[in-house]
Amino acid sequence: MKNKITPNNREVVMRDDDFIVSKTNPKGQLTYANEIFIEFSGYNEAELLGKQHNIVRHPDMPRAVFKLLWDTLKAGKEFNGYVKNLCKDGSYYWVFANVTPSYSANGRLLGYYSVRRKPAKDALDFIDGLYRNMVLAERQAGTKNTIEASTQLLNKLLNSKDISYEEFILTL
Ligand SMILES: Cc1cc2nc3c(=O)[nH]c(=O)nc-3n(C[C@H](O)[C@H](O)[C@H](O)COP(=O)(O)O)c2cc1C
Repeated sequence: MKNKITPNNREVVMRDDDFIVSKTNPKGQLTYANEIFIEFSGYNEAELLGKQHNIVRHPDMPRAVFKLLWDTLKAGKEFNGYVKNLCKDGSYYWVFANVTPSYSANGRLLGYYSVRRKPAKDALDFIDGLYRNMVLAERQAGTKNTIEASTQLLNKLLNSKDISYEEFILTL
């Protein structure tokens, strides 16, 4: 579900001891948001629960990052990444997110769980530039090759450093 919020350039900055927490069902619909999530997103609980998590999706985020997130989760692995999120009033907030699949004792997928903390300033400066280039590549690519175009850009960077995405993101 797409929202029609016009983004502005106001940043809301996480505090050092903040944790923004949410849970979703296997379809990615919100089943839980903690108080700090509610505070930063600007939505109340009733507006959030049952909605797709893309309710806070910011247009400055490359599509390739979310593809990587979902590919990683679907493979049963945890994802770490920097995400620029959109508030209800059009402001934005950066997070460093850890997202994990949750399973029942007999291995059934229960849903997904995300804990976000304040990103380091230096990491953000780098990521902001990288994401800008990725979004540019996505806009310049045809509709068919959108995600491939920005994934290629990310992979070029990883290859030049000879590290995996996971290593790269955790060393920023
Ligand atoms: C547990 C969990 C947490 C997520 N957290 C965020 C988030 O903070 N911001 C965001 O934009 N997408 C988040 N996503 C990804 C969204 O489900 C979605 O893929 C993304 O917003 C891209 O939306 P789109 O495919 O409609 O463009 C999360 C997904 C899961 C499963």
